[in-house]
Amino acid sequence: MATAVEGVDLNTPPTPELAATLRKALWDNQVLCIRGQSIGPGAYLTAISAFGEPQIRPEIPHVDGFPAVTTLSSEDRDTKGDGKRLVAGATWHSDDSFMARPSALTALYGIVVPDEGGDTQYANMYAAYEALPEDKRRHLDTLQVVHTMKPAREGLGRTRSIDPAILAQRPPSTHPLIRTHPETGRKALYISRNRMDHIVGMDRAEGHRLIDELVEHAIQPQFTYRHKWRQGDIVIWDNRCLMHKANGDYPEGARRFMQRIIVAGEVPV
Ligand code: OGA
Ligand code: MN
Repeated sequence: MATAVEGVDLNTPPTPELAATLRKALWDNQVLCIRGQSIGPGAYLTAISAFGEPQIRPEIPHVDGFPAVTTLSSEDRDTKGDGKRLVAGATWHSDDSFMARPSALTALYGIVVPDEGGDTQYANMYAAYEALPEDKRRHLDTLQVVHTMKPAREGLGRTRSIDPAILAQRPPSTHPLIRTHPETGRKALYISRNRMDHIVGMDRAEGHRLIDELVEHAIQPQFTYRHKWRQGDIVIWDNRCLMHKANGDYPEGARRFMQRIIVAGEVPV
């Protein structure tokens, strides 16, 4: 899992050939890092458009004039909640799983990265699924899960407090626990721990125990990759076959500033 390319300058829009090479690298490796970038939001959007259609999420702060280029900063505070430092995505998740069509891909551009800490971790959900015993896979293949934007679990890290008007536009979504990737045809576990309200037809607590057990399985070292950020990295990952996790372990006062673009996905099947 995970590959890095150097020697590409995204100030020039990717040619169709380069775009196809980058997409293939992403489908084959799940995480793609394009190193050494120094680009503005317009060039960033053009480059990511080679992977699909950028999406807007109005609840996340964005770059002036570029609603699809949102920002993630060590200065973020939960202004609607208690004002404490906000580390988005600090529990294992897949982006926007509560949406009917969750984003397929996420890109993060590391503009300021801390010297130590702030790594992003990934778990390969194809490999985690494939390593399960056959009878377990057959059972999991039958399960559906209700995902909600409002966090479903206590004690799994903070999320941004959401405007009730936005919450009202985001009804729960029911997705299979095992999904098939539309590009590769491979099956993967589809887990976003804090958004999984319950497994359909299963006692809530029992469903949460099963989800926790699958997370513990999937985050074993042989299935995971830890990205140590260098300034200028653009990392693109595939939410359809990965979980990921932010780490807020850099010191108070250290700065981390990222620009984020999400790319439209499909209804999980
Ligand atoms: C995200 C996310 C991880 C990080 O942007 O969706 O989970 O390390 N970010 O900032
Ligand atoms: Mn995330």
